[in-house]
Amino acid sequence: MINLVKISDLDVNNKRVLVRLDLDIKEFNENDLRLTAATKTLDYLKGKASEITIIAHRGRPDGKVVPELSLKVFQSYFDKWGARVEENLRFDKGEEENNPDFIKKLATLGDVFINDAFANSHRNHASIVGLPKLMPSVFGFHFLEEIENLSRDFSKPVVVVISGIKEDKVEMAKKLSDIYDKVLVGGRLPEYFGDEGLESVRNQDEKLVIGNLTQDREDITLNTIEKFKSELSYAETVILAGVLGKYEDEGHMQGTKEIFEYISKLSAFKIAGGGDTETAITTLNLSDKFDWISVGGGAMLEFLSHKTLPAIEAIIK
Ligand code: 3PG
Repeated sequence: MINLVKISDLDVNNKRVLVRLDLDIKEFNENDLRLTAATKTLDYLKGKASEITIIAHRGRPDGKVVPELSLKVFQSYFDKWGARVEENLRFDKGEEENNPDFIKKLATLGDVFINDAFANSHRNHASIVGLPKLMPSVFGFHFLEEIENLSRDFSKPVVVVISGIKEDKVEMAKKLSDIYDKVLVGGRLPEYFGDEGLESVRNQDEKLVIGNLTQDREDITLNTIEKFKSELSYAETVILAGVLGKYEDEGHMQGTKEIFEYISKLSAFKIAGGGDTETAITTLNLSDKFDWISVGGGAMLEFLSHKTLPAIEAIIK
């Protein structure tokens, strides 16, 4: 495992500490994994740091102020640590553009920096790769726990289920099929692969199995559910990243429900990751059936593909 700098390597006593967290959460719920993941780092800082300032993003407001994506909704949750929550970083274009002036402005908010935002660590954004250039920086407790779990030696065969709606997962799926034994593709992703309308589950090659979608494109077909189950049945390790359809709609939850429940009963080592995946696992009451639930979807897959992340490179260098 890579040896990453930890909080204990940094003097935080009487320092103004700037903490990057994952607050890309649709609705406030104090049991959300992305909120509870911050506990250990904040507990450690309380009573040591002279000031704790939290920075984070929420959604994709594209450089504009979008009131529904405000972070104010989280302030009372963080009061118990005396931490102050800054507004959504992505309200300013400088965050996603990794703009030097924006980074300088952020750096004035603290003396030292802690990155505990694993879910965003695959983005080359100001608060992820920019800040470590300007201030002493380390990783938070949760970030390190993620790296530890995702760096294990996985028993083979490893079967990856990659789904959801983010188009950037297509390249990830191809890359993962070079590394792991089988990659099953569902959610909206089959559409981005082209060749729509085929009647049976498509085998792009032996390792990449692209599901078929129902006519309204909001779920995978019954045929695909069966095919995915048969591929999963021999897995020694399962990596689950993404929901199989628009699971929040009663009429489109079948793929997600059946595949998630099927995976939960396997004796394989089971990892899941991503905001929607975690919400669906919680809704289906399956949380204790997984060996590790990562807060990151894209970040988890990128780490598994490259064994490093922009956030890691930024703090190592
Ligand atoms: C996530 O939820 O996966 C992260 O917050 C990253 O969000 P993004 O895909 O909008 O960069």
